[in-house]
Amino acid sequence: MSKDYEERIQELRSKMTLEEKIGQLQQCGPSLVGAFDVSFDELLNMMFDGRITKEEFDRLMGTAEQDYHEEDLRAGKIGSYNGIGDSAMANRLQKIAVEETRLGIPLLFGYDVIHGFRTVTPIPLAESCAWEPALWEKTGRVAAQEATAAGVHLTFAPMVDVAKDARWGRVSEGAGEDVLLNSDYGVAKVMGFQGDDLTKEDAMAACLKHFAAYGAGEAGRDYNRVDMSMQRLWEEYMPPYQACVDAGARAVMPAFNDINGVPCTVNSWLLRDILREKWGFNGLVISDSNAIAECVDHGIAKDKRDASKQAILAGMDMDMSSNSYIECLKELVESGEVPESVLDGAVDDVLRIKFELGLFDNPYQTDGQRESQAMLKDEYRAIAREAAVKSMVLLKNENQVLPLKADAKIGLFGSLAADKGQMTGAWAIGANPEDCVSIVDACEVRRISYRYSENGSDLLKIAVDSDVLVAAIGEKKEESGEAASRADIMVRQEDLALVRDLLATGKPVIVVLFNGRPLAIPELAEHVPAILEAWHPGVEAGPAILDVLFGDVNPSGKLTTTFPAATGQCPMYYAHINTGRPGGKSKFTSKYLDAPVEPLYPFGYGLSYTTYAYGDLKAEKKEDSLHVTVSVSNTGERDGEEIVQCYVQDVAAKRVRPVRQLKGYKKVGLKAGETKQAEFTIPYEELSYYDWNMNKVPCEGILRVYAGGDSRAELMEEIIL
Ligand code: NOJ
Repeated sequence: MSKDYEERIQELRSKMTLEEKIGQLQQCGPSLVGAFDVSFDELLNMMFDGRITKEEFDRLMGTAEQDYHEEDLRAGKIGSYNGIGDSAMANRLQKIAVEETRLGIPLLFGYDVIHGFRTVTPIPLAESCAWEPALWEKTGRVAAQEATAAGVHLTFAPMVDVAKDARWGRVSEGAGEDVLLNSDYGVAKVMGFQGDDLTKEDAMAACLKHFAAYGAGEAGRDYNRVDMSMQRLWEEYMPPYQACVDAGARAVMPAFNDINGVPCTVNSWLLRDILREKWGFNGLVISDSNAIAECVDHGIAKDKRDASKQAILAGMDMDMSSNSYIECLKELVESGEVPESVLDGAVDDVLRIKFELGLFDNPYQTDGQRESQAMLKDEYRAIAREAAVKSMVLLKNENQVLPLKADAKIGLFGSLAADKGQMTGAWAIGANPEDCVSIVDACEVRRISYRYSENGSDLLKIAVDSDVLVAAIGEKKEESGEAASRADIMVRQEDLALVRDLLATGKPVIVVLFNGRPLAIPELAEHVPAILEAWHPGVEAGPAILDVLFGDVNPSGKLTTTFPAATGQCPMYYAHINTGRPGGKSKFTSKYLDAPVEPLYPFGYGLSYTTYAYGDLKAEKKEDSLHVTVSVSNTGERDGEEIVQCYVQDVAAKRVRPVRQLKGYKKVGLKAGETKQAEFTIPYEELSYYDWNMNKVPCEGILRVYAGGDSRAELMEEIIL
């Protein structure tokens, strides 16, 4: 297939003028114009820094209209749009591109479809807690079916940035702290988004991001520097990106951050040597928003022209939103500072993805009718509910407060129990808040006996009439996601005050947490009998939460991110190294004076309404791999699904190694009383690591193999490699 495209690409490119080539590299979004004479971004800044009030901002927005830059489009100066999720508008612009530009090259429409389009599914961090690639793929497929019906060709997803610092707001957008889970999650999403044939109308190209190590920004502050050893970069951060490239992701977005001093946007080692040469990627590389121009702020380029030159030479094909290429490339090519062959390479990458998506043969891949029929189908809602249920993690359940009896009278508190719009979490720009079902809505539908108070007024009256009190607290959707790092990840004081008041009534209290990151909740963990981590669960939030609270479904989610006991422990993650003085009770050990050594809830942790026991762990050497088996029994009275996890520790190596590393996981369905075996095959290659000189060396000597229900699993077998 690709050979055929390559010929067509060459043929088309040979007809293009310099301006038309540069136009193909330009991605822009609609701009807001109205009764204000500054850019929309500046207006937003003015509101944030207090120069105008929110009311004034809203008034100005009321006057605003979208400018789609149609004159530039007609002149062949735009190759792609970002942020148009509406088939009528997409087709209108596409028609201009196809019928009114000299060469009729179709547009590529990109959009942030992060966790669903209209049928918003749980945020990625939540969904990762299902540990279920088939589910991740299925929700990715639904997202593609809806988004492509709205005219989207490419999604800026999956984000596979391994994230170990809960302060970073974007932990919500990825699969947590583990490298294996991020790889599996990313691959499943690529498959779900792209389907089996990119030319199909419901296939959406995946743009994996943010390449590379965006999740490792210093101190969890967004956009911050990343300075780390090559060993760590390759062992802990790079594998998910590579896995997505290997799985066929057709686009890559370099990250905002620098790595060891060179911003990814202009990093030719990353974008040429690794991505293209080593990994053989021949898809599209799109900058992050305005990132080329921001190289001036980074202090790596003296002006936009310099930034453009560095970016294109480094292998950045398309400029998202900074207008750097469109303003500067012509002169750079004419002066010989950028060889035309480099420009041609970038143009080829843009044309290639357009051919692969079938846009030359079928530029209008959808219409209003398809769009109106594609959204929020019952089957999609059912998948969203399944995903939400599987994402939830039962953190505590003392005295079996949960599941609730069918006729339990509930006192329900907290604005998040009723606020539909909050259920989507960060990055759900195609969402309509009215589509979401809150806990209160779901109680109505199920005819639950409940009384609700948003802020705790009437608390005592409600408590008297209730069997159990439920507090829906945590983070609002604006508190995680991009540019939403927090210096303190505690739950809000008002939330704590509400819970204290509920506890004082003496009734059993259940906390349902909504959040886009781990929260430090030591007080809740100590005093509240039951805590359900619901994350931001998406459109089916309410029904899914009730499914779990009432025990229609036995919870099975397990944390893919460590819950620290205090912000000061961040970054906290299970695959840490020991140091020469592992944290402990005695004085001179690696710890804080004022925080525990251990997290509040470890990676991999999650309870169920039944209990499981592990035994018969065996690790056996085969020719190319280690074969591990363990038996797991459901020792309780309810059927359930257990996520069995297998970890290893290389006890003495040429470089210090993590105390544990996840090497396999399986979700096992077990009827009450049933026992099954879980098997893991771990290729020796996956145990190898980089030595001081960056040589990949095999794991040798004693290897400890652990299996169990979380990263603290004690069942262990030693084997000599
Ligand atoms: C900035 C974000 O970093 C990126 O993830 C997103 O895809 C782009 N903006 C486009 O909206």
